[in-house]
Amino acid sequence: MSAPATINGKEVFDLLRDDLVSLEDEFGHDTVSTVRAITEIGEYLRAGGGKRIRPALLLLSAKLLNYQGRGAVRLGAVVEIIHTATLVHDDIIDEAKTRRGRPAANTQWGNSKCVLAGDWLYMQAFKIAVQERNFRILDTLIELTQHMVEGELLQIEKLGKLITLDEHFDLIFRKTACLFSVCMRLGAILGGATPEQESALGKYGHDLGMAFQIVDDVLDLTASEDVLGKPVASDLREGKVTMAVIHALERCTAEERGKIEKILKDRAFNGVTHADILAILQRYGSLDAATSRAAQYAESARKSICFFPDSEIKRALLWAPEFVVAREK
Ligand code: IPE
Ligand code: IPE
Ligand code: MG
Ligand code: MG
Repeated sequence: MSAPATINGKEVFDLLRDDLVSLEDEFGHDTVSTVRAITEIGEYLRAGGGKRIRPALLLLSAKLLNYQGRGAVRLGAVVEIIHTATLVHDDIIDEAKTRRGRPAANTQWGNSKCVLAGDWLYMQAFKIAVQERNFRILDTLIELTQHMVEGELLQIEKLGKLITLDEHFDLIFRKTACLFSVCMRLGAILGGATPEQESALGKYGHDLGMAFQIVDDVLDLTASEDVLGKPVASDLREGKVTMAVIHALERCTAEERGKIEKILKDRAFNGVTHADILAILQRYGSLDAATSRAAQYAESARKSICFFPDSEIKRALLWAPEFVVAREK
């Protein structure tokens, strides 16, 4: 009997179930410190859940190349710990009050402790990565962390400014797509990929990550906090111009532009409501334009792995872009 051509989310989860359980164990052990606050913050974040999409990608990439060792779970924990550290720092920078449907760590422990816990988590991630005794892995992770920090820093410098789409895409590459690409490349390195295979998997991760952040930015405008588990309409309030807004700004009237600029300047919805902004974005088809750009990236991700032979794992990788574009949180 021939295997079905597609796979659904539950089947992907089933494929990764054992590894994801091991990953939670690994994460739990890895984030224990002799200083209680660090262990508590690490555990609070781990228990808050999260989609675990980055380690899932790393596991799939390694499995696609038939890697069998324990390194994929360890490096899966590494990328999830790096992601966690960036979220802790990001919520301090963005002054966010909620994350994963719970009070953000900064609201529970304060900024100072959370900055330090984030630093500790970064270094812990590197300590685990060193166990692989592989300089390419370390080089990749160091470059990644620098890109992510540069992305957050550039974003701060551009707050409140009307940036171009190219500048925006550079930012979302650094803050999100770079990590997605690294997850795929780390799986490839473990699996002994050829340079062509590694670069195809890296491109898949890059394009998927771009789609992921564009969708995150659309959800910030369209979702409810209950579903998303983090603040909504927060990007404009934080002075961040994202793809749908850039699209509308290129087309709207002076009066409409004035409304958008007012929120960016006031860092608050004073006299201009979230609904006013959504009406402007809808008038110019800007939310659809952003969603279709995300869908293009998702399709491009799928295309980059088309030359791998058919397998359940490949089908899981072909499913992920659909999930990223259609997700509600
Ligand atoms: C949030 O990432 C940060 C962004 C890059 C938008 P996720 O949406 O993957 O967060 P969790 O891990 O599932 O909470
Ligand atoms: C994600 O950017 C940046 C990170 C790499 C943490 P956002 O600021 O949009 O992320 P959320 O929306 O707070 O999760
Ligand atoms: Mg944020
Ligand atoms: Mg966001």
